[in-house]
Amino acid sequence: MNLQSKIAIVTGASSGIGAEFSKILVENGATVYGIARSIDKLKSIKDSLGDSFIPVKMDITKARDLEKWVDKTFDESNQPDILVNNAGLGYFADVDELSLDQWQNMLNVNLSGIFYLTRLIVPLMKENENICHIVNIASIAGMLGNPQMSAYNATKFGVRGMSEALFKELRYDGIKVTCFLPGSISTNFFNSVDAIDLHPNMMQAVDIAKTLKYVLETPDNFLINEIVMRPLNPKPPKD
Ligand SMILES: NC(=O)c1ccc[n+]([C@@H]2O[C@H](COP(=O)([O-])OP(=O)(O)OC[C@H]3O[C@@H](n4cnc5c(N)ncnc54)[C@H](OP(=O)(O)O)[C@@H]3O)[C@@H](O)[C@H]2O)c1
Repeated sequence: MNLQSKIAIVTGASSGIGAEFSKILVENGATVYGIARSIDKLKSIKDSLGDSFIPVKMDITKARDLEKWVDKTFDESNQPDILVNNAGLGYFADVDELSLDQWQNMLNVNLSGIFYLTRLIVPLMKENENICHIVNIASIAGMLGNPQMSAYNATKFGVRGMSEALFKELRYDGIKVTCFLPGSISTNFFNSVDAIDLHPNMMQAVDIAKTLKYVLETPDNFLINEIVMRPLNPKPPKD
């Protein structure tokens, strides 16, 4: 895909890798609808990226709001080519310490939110004459279970499974589906995790964004359906 003049939707665009995805897409000629709840952060991204970044204040767990937004935004003359399902969050705790709210919130955002939006965008992509691309951001936690991560693991294994099924379901409709499985990236994701401090050996959001560009720009009949990314040395540097 040539990104010039393409229309993209990025969820979780207000921060972290979603903000970097939006930047690289706009810099390469795409228009980006950036979805998140923090409108102030989205507006400041628009201030730096310009009118090709369109802030959309939305909670992706609200299926009805998503339906209304998709209905009023897209039509035959404005069809989405790219959907990056990126919004997500993690709570890490022993299974007997995790609250019902934390479990529900992770399932709603990390898994149901992807379903709610994807089911609305796929029909538009099926009508689109361009090859389209859906990129789902899972995690290395979508292939490796670990202590204190049972609920997060459940959601990200779910994203990986959904991506595998969708790739097989949508390939003959000219829609590519790719699942990203990254290890630790230096973002606000870890703000609420006491046990993990950001450090320079974590991957950088800009490098994940460069990988997105590479995956999107592959030739039409060439699909990278999964991609695992890790820091070479994941340990914090010694002082
Ligand atoms: N950082 C890592 O080490 C790492 C590794 C592997 C995978 N991932 C995955 O990468 C994705 C992005 O995370 P990040 O590292 O960039 O973290 P981040 O900086 O915390 O960004 C998370 C984004 O998700 C949005 N979001 C959360 N709940 C939402 C909701 N209900 N509706 C709409 N947007 C919502 C947030 O925006 P608002 O708060 O403004 O709504 C924010 O833009 C997540 O799916 C995460 O699981 C992260």
